[in-house]
Amino acid sequence: MTSILHFADVHFGVEDEAALARLDATIESLKPDVSVISGDITQTGSEAEFEAAARWIEQLSGPKVITAGNHDTPMYGIVDRILKPFDRYAEYIDPFDEGLFEDENVIIQSMNTARGVQMKLDWSVGVVNLDDLDQKITRFQQSDWGKLRLLNVHHPFIYPPESPLQKTTDNGPEGLKRLADGNCDMVLSGHVHVPFVIERKPGGSELLSVSSGTLSTRRRDNKPAFNHIHVDADEVAITMVEFSDDNYVRTEKFRKKRNELSGWRREGHTQMRTDAVVLDTQR
Ligand SMILES: [Fe+2]
Repeated sequence: MTSILHFADVHFGVEDEAALARLDATIESLKPDVSVISGDITQTGSEAEFEAAARWIEQLSGPKVITAGNHDTPMYGIVDRILKPFDRYAEYIDPFDEGLFEDENVIIQSMNTARGVQMKLDWSVGVVNLDDLDQKITRFQQSDWGKLRLLNVHHPFIYPPESPLQKTTDNGPEGLKRLADGNCDMVLSGHVHVPFVIERKPGGSELLSVSSGTLSTRRRDNKPAFNHIHVDADEVAITMVEFSDDNYVRTEKFRKKRNELSGWRREGHTQMRTDAVVLDTQR
C-alpha cells in the first residue's frame, strides 16, 4: 500500500493559518509514504514566504516530490524574474525535494510548467516543454510495468470546463496525448485552486487528471483542501480532504480496481510498452 498526500497552492504569505494549524493530526492519521506538492508554494516569491514554506515542508515527514508554480518567482523583482526566476525556489525548496519517488506501487516525477517571463502578456500561463516531457516518459518506462505512473506539475494540461479559471497551457493537449500514449496513469496539478478528478482518453489510453484544492485564503467558493491518494496492488482511490468547521472531512472522489483502468491493463501491454519506447526515441 502507498499513501500519497497531494498538496497545491499553499501560497505562503496568504496561507490559511487555521487550516494549516489543524493539519498535523489529519496527516498523521493518513500515514503518508510521500508528499507531493504541485507548486505555488508562495504568494509573491519573497524570502520571508519561502522561509515559512521551507519550515512547513521540513516538518512534513517522509520524502517529498515538489514542483514550482508561477507564484514561486519574484513577483516584485523584474530583473531577478527575468535572469534567475527560480533561484530562490532552488535555494529554499530544492533541499527537501527528492525529485523522484519510487516504491513497489508507484513512481512519481515532477516537471516544471511555470516560467518567470514569457513572450506574451500573461506570464501565469503554463508551458509544457515536450522534450522535458519525453524524458519523464522515458524514465517512467524504465520502471517496472506494474507501477502506477504519476507526473506532478503545476498547471493542468487541459482545463476542465467547470474550472473557474480557463487558460490554455502551451503544448498541453499534445503533452497529455504523449503521456497517455506513454502509459502514464495520472497527472497531479494545482493552479486552479479547485479539486477535481477527471478520466481522460486523449489517445486510446486512459489517464487521470487530478487537481488539489488550495490551503491558502485565495479560494473560489470552496473550502481549503488537499488530496489523499491510496494505491495498492489492486486498487486506486482518490479522496478530497477538506477543512470544514474547524475539522478535516474526507470525501472520496474516485475508486477503481487497477485492472478496470482502461488502457493500463490491456492484453499485450508488454508489447505496447516496447512500441512506446520506440516512438519516444524517434522524437
Ligand atoms: Fe495558485
